[in-house]
Amino acid sequence: MSDLSTSIKKLYFDFPVFNASGILGATESEIKKVLESEAGAVVIKSVTLEKRPGNTGVRFYWDDIGSINSMGLPNQGIDYYCNLADKLTKYNKPVILSIAGFKEDDYKKIIAKADKVPFSAIEVNLSCPNIEGKGIFAYDYKTMFRLLKDLRKKSKKVLGVKLPPYTQREQIKGIAENFVKIGIDFITTMNTFPLSTYIDYQKETMRIKPNMGIGGLGGKAVKQIALAQVLLFKEYSNGKLPIIAVGGISSAADVYEFILIGATAVQIGTALLKNDTKIFVQIKKDLSTLLKEKKVKRLSDKIGNLKYL
Ligand code: DHB
Repeated sequence: MSDLSTSIKKLYFDFPVFNASGILGATESEIKKVLESEAGAVVIKSVTLEKRPGNTGVRFYWDDIGSINSMGLPNQGIDYYCNLADKLTKYNKPVILSIAGFKEDDYKKIIAKADKVPFSAIEVNLSCPNIEGKGIFAYDYKTMFRLLKDLRKKSKKVLGVKLPPYTQREQIKGIAENFVKIGIDFITTMNTFPLSTYIDYQKETMRIKPNMGIGGLGGKAVKQIALAQVLLFKEYSNGKLPIIAVGGISSAADVYEFILIGATAVQIGTALLKNDTKIFVQIKKDLSTLLKEKKVKRLSDKIGNLKYL
């Protein structure tokens, strides 16, 4: 069987496919379910300082081409996840904590707590699209760089950043170069496309309730955007910024495309929600078959191995 393993700094993935933050990572039982599955790691739902119920009403919808959500950061609060951390080490898989805040100070306080317990890495989520009246930090470059410099100084953890989609090469170039300088260990790209909606023409209503029915778009509808984000971050960081890819991945072929274009690992969001953890079993089986057919011994040899025409 081909070697499917990859690594980022101290993080070792025997199978570099796992959940995207927000899908199956919010409670102890969900986190354990992912760790007990074929997934190579778990990402905990973005945590805030305090427990939050999230937005009210219908806040998630999906169909064949994608999904939309405006969850509003429902989570148990940082202390709940810190209290779990010890118990999760027995699975011997990376446990990545996603963190979110409403102001810079929130991130600093959360990371101070998280640094004291055995999480394997922290994914700083600067791209939540669903908090009305609060901009997306990752589009405010000055604030983002200032905050990350501070977090990098304070945290000994493997430190990653979850980013939203960007629409211009120059934006990605500036971020990639600064992240390398700051010493960011990995990026996760991309979060959902922020301003999106679905409507029901029969009922003549929006599909979700919060924020005028507008939320973040994920699933197959965003895969082509996510691929290009990975490529440009790889290119503009001169390969110095390891990338965890997310956006419309649901099959072994999708995983292979993202590996070829430069990802070291991938996360599954919408497709995990639709198929549950059996999707990891299917992808692992199909990816092994694909690598065997292609006579690829090690998946990691293929990272960024795509040719331009
Ligand atoms: C939520 C959505 C996101 O895309 C994200 O990155 C964080 C939180 C949410 O609405 O809960």
